[in-house]
Amino acid sequence: MKKILFQLSGSIACYKACYLLSKLVQDGHEVQVACTQGALKFVGEATLEGLSGRPVFTDAYEKGRMLDHIRLTQWADLALLCPASANTLNRLATGLADDVIGSLFLAWNLKKPYLVAPAMNQEMFRHPATQASLGKLQGWGIQVLETEEGRQACGDFGPGRLLDPDVIHRSVQGALGIQ
Ligand SMILES: Cc1cc2nc3c(=O)[nH]c(=O)nc-3n(C[C@H](O)[C@H](O)[C@H](O)COP(=O)(O)O)c2cc1C
Repeated sequence: MKKILFQLSGSIACYKACYLLSKLVQDGHEVQVACTQGALKFVGEATLEGLSGRPVFTDAYEKGRMLDHIRLTQWADLALLCPASANTLNRLATGLADDVIGSLFLAWNLKKPYLVAPAMNQEMFRHPATQASLGKLQGWGIQVLETEEGRQACGDFGPGRLLDPDVIHRSVQGALGIQ
């Protein structure tokens, strides 16, 4: 079984990511959660630690974890950002390391798989800033997963919905070389 760095950013789709997190743990993988402060507005640390069995990494300056933004990148076989908010995707594409997700991204060895599963409003998704960031990330070897088209929480219809978590699960297994 593998070591997975499961990262969440602030999107309404965080609740769907919890199902995927649980599924990966049930597969037998070791899963470490890291998340933005924004993600914690949508799901609580109790859920994330409860599902993963490990304390969530969300504060780079937490006592006893000051080097986790490097150590976790050395530890993990694969990183997944799910859901990937517009804000975090745009920050990653500019190389900002002003939170744990940005720091982990810059310290990540791009020879190992890094997957992002975007989730956002259709206008945010179609925006040239977001599209340029996704293109940039792909150019760096990041595996950008598709989004689903359909009704969104805000009532809009269009692309940007989080891909079905079972489909993301298959992409993760594939990237890890597991059938
Ligand atoms: C109810 C609600 C739902 C949101 N859903 C999304 C979303 O699905 N995708 C997204 O990119 N931003 C969404 N946002 C906006 C982000 O939470 C906001 O841009 C935040 O700054 C993201 O921070 P982070 O990327 O550091 O987690 C939502 C905000 C609210 C209040």
